[in-house]
Amino acid sequence: MFSSRIKWDLTVNRLAGLLAAKRAAGQPILDLTEANPTRTGLLSTGAELLNQLAIPDSLTYQPMPRGLEKAREAVVSYYRERGLRTDPAQLHLTASSSEGYSWLFKLLANQGEAILVPQPSYPLFDFLATLEGVRLIPYQLRYYHHLGWRIDFESIADAITSDVRAIIIVSPNNPTGSFIKRDELEKLHLICQQHKLAVIVDEVFSDYGLGEDPQRVVSMAGNDQSLTFVLSGLSKILALPQMKLGWIATSGPPALVDEAVERLDLIADTFLSVGAPVQHALPGWMGHRSSLQAGILERLRTNLDRLANHPQLEPNRLLHLEGGWYATLEVPRYLSEEELVIRLLEEQGVLLHPGYFFDFERESYLVVSLLPAPDIFAEALDRLLPAIAATGTIKQA
Ligand SMILES: Cc1ncc(COP(=O)(O)O)c(C=O)c1O
Repeated sequence: MFSSRIKWDLTVNRLAGLLAAKRAAGQPILDLTEANPTRTGLLSTGAELLNQLAIPDSLTYQPMPRGLEKAREAVVSYYRERGLRTDPAQLHLTASSSEGYSWLFKLLANQGEAILVPQPSYPLFDFLATLEGVRLIPYQLRYYHHLGWRIDFESIADAITSDVRAIIIVSPNNPTGSFIKRDELEKLHLICQQHKLAVIVDEVFSDYGLGEDPQRVVSMAGNDQSLTFVLSGLSKILALPQMKLGWIATSGPPALVDEAVERLDLIADTFLSVGAPVQHALPGWMGHRSSLQAGILERLRTNLDRLANHPQLEPNRLLHLEGGWYATLEVPRYLSEEELVIRLLEEQGVLLHPGYFFDFERESYLVVSLLPAPDIFAEALDRLLPAIAATGTIKQA
């Protein structure tokens, strides 16, 4: 009756089971996995945003595979404000960046062909690729205390085979928060040219850089050296994931771009998935970008500061963070990640992501969202950090 495209593993793991039981029993949970911006008290302009959805032009259906011109122009202005040039004729609006990935997988890879993905990274890749019949091959991001996260180009060289079609860069990456750097970009272009690979760059968090670093590549939009597809959208830029609007910005050598854009037109025309009201609302919504992002950046900085300066945070436990909405803690390996996360939930009422959720190459890491309300975040840290430090004594007892 059903396909076997993916392993439809619908069993509930121990952590999810415990969480469901606690919630059903009405027990309070300090949720440090909360990264849904609509649940963190950050949206202060709600009524104004909703008004934009009532634009009368939305009553007319104008099926356009790339999306309405006024919406694409709003995306071009967004990049222009950041000092970047994009061409509206090379933009395709999508319902989300996740949908953007699925269209790009259809565009670039036949069934069974492969795409390189960073490890650790965003947990949805496996599903997105498997549903498209595409294989993922991981390459490594490696952490050095003095440098932060760097792309391991040897692991890329080892991963490339004749059926690899593209390489995914997430910048800044989720959850490591690392941006691609200028020297890494140069190496990446050489590899792409040598092996005829396209680059898919997920920049959903690129407006949320913390601190300054001239070596950071702030965006690859408009890059013309390799065939490049930049993915982004409102779920992070305006903290409006429920509005379902993202995009693919294509650039690169002109002949390749022309062909890619025409083929993407065909894929987009098959679905025409972006609703008219959000497209008409986009120019008005973008006007709220700087104030919305200022609120989010303040939240991120407040929580990060609290974590970094917590008296019970041991040295080098908090990994260097350049941007994005998450922080990573490297913790002692007295317990497995799963055991530790379960204990923290059971005994402290604090919920965190275990590193395996993001495919860290080895244990033990914990990932926290920096978006929760500061009082919840602070209380969770006060419970969490002493409990982590005590895991050594649990084992020895
Ligand atoms: C790196 C990254 N890319 C894409 C997405 C999904 O974004 P969208 O809501 O646009 O599909 C997420 C969601 O958390 C993400 O972390």
